[in-house]
Amino acid sequence: MVQQDCGSCHGMTLKGGLGPSLLPERIAILPEQYLIEAVTHGRPGTPMPPWAPILTDTEIRWIVEQLKSGQLAQSQSD
Ligand code: HEC
Repeated sequence: MVQQDCGSCHGMTLKGGLGPSLLPERIAILPEQYLIEAVTHGRPGTPMPPWAPILTDTEIRWIVEQLKSGQLAQSQSD
């Protein structure tokens, strides 16, 4: 789901595209809460949509944790 829906803008390998790279090397320095906010509410004035209507808080937290741990980027290359 993340690769499909997020990958359409962030790149299928999450290296970045229309949106910035979501690889762990880059987002490791960003606070978890900041990333959760970005996914939940989107970024007004940019193509990043708010995901609150589609994903639950739990799902968003899970995605952010997976992104930080690198799990999602790795599962992509399998
Ligand atoms: C329609 C295109 C689009 C889709 C789909 C999309 N994003 Fe984004 N995303 C963006 C753009 C563009 C930005 C940069 C916004 C900005 O300039 O601040 C962004 C920013 C972000 C950021 C903040 C990164 C940072 O460094 O501040 C995160 C985290 C993020 N997206 C996660 C996701 C996740 C997770 C999904 C899937 C649930 C997703 N995005 C789907 C376009 C998209």
